[in-house]
Amino acid sequence: MTSKTKDLTALFHETLKDIYFAEKQILRALPKMAKAAQTDALRQAFEHHRDETQGQIERLEQVFELLGKSPRGKACDAIVGIIDEGKEIMEDFSDTEALDPGLLAAAQAVEHYEISRYGTLKTWATQLGLPDAAKLLDATLQEEMKTDKLLTQLALQSVNRKAA
Ligand SMILES: [Fe+2]
Ligand SMILES: [Fe+2]
Repeated sequence: MTSKTKDLTALFHETLKDIYFAEKQILRALPKMAKAAQTDALRQAFEHHRDETQGQIERLEQVFELLGKSPRGKACDAIVGIIDEGKEIMEDFSDTEALDPGLLAAAQAVEHYEISRYGTLKTWATQLGLPDAAKLLDATLQEEMKTDKLLTQLALQSVNRKAA
C-alpha cells in the first residue's frame, strides 16, 4: 500500500465514523419529527425513513467490517447543528401553519448532508478497491436521494393545496 492509499483509507474510515454517528442521531430525531408533523403524508414519510435509517446503520456496520474495523461513531458537529435547527423549528412554530414547511426544510437539509457524505464515501470506496463497500454505500445513497425527492414532492403539494 502506498502512503497515498493509506491516507485515503484513514480518511474513509474517519468519514465512515462521522456518518455512523450522524445516522444514529437521525434515527433518534425522525420519530420526534413524525410526531410533530401535521399531515399524515409527512408523518408517514418520516416513519418510513426511520425504518430505512435502521437498515442504513446496519449497512454501515457491514462497511466497517469490510474495512476490518469495529463500528464506532465520531461526534459530527454538522449534523448536530442541522438537527438542532429542526428542534428549534418544532418549538418556535408548533401549532402554526409554518410547522410542516419547517419540518420539510429541516429534513431536506439532513438528506442533502447525507447525500453529500454517501456520494463521497462511495467514490472513495471505489478508489480504494472496495467494490462491496461501494455497493452498500450506493444502496443507501439511492434511498437518501429518493427520500429527498419525496420531500420535495410533499413540499410542492402543500404549496399547491394552499394556492387552490
Ligand atoms: Fe440516512
Ligand atoms: Fe436520510
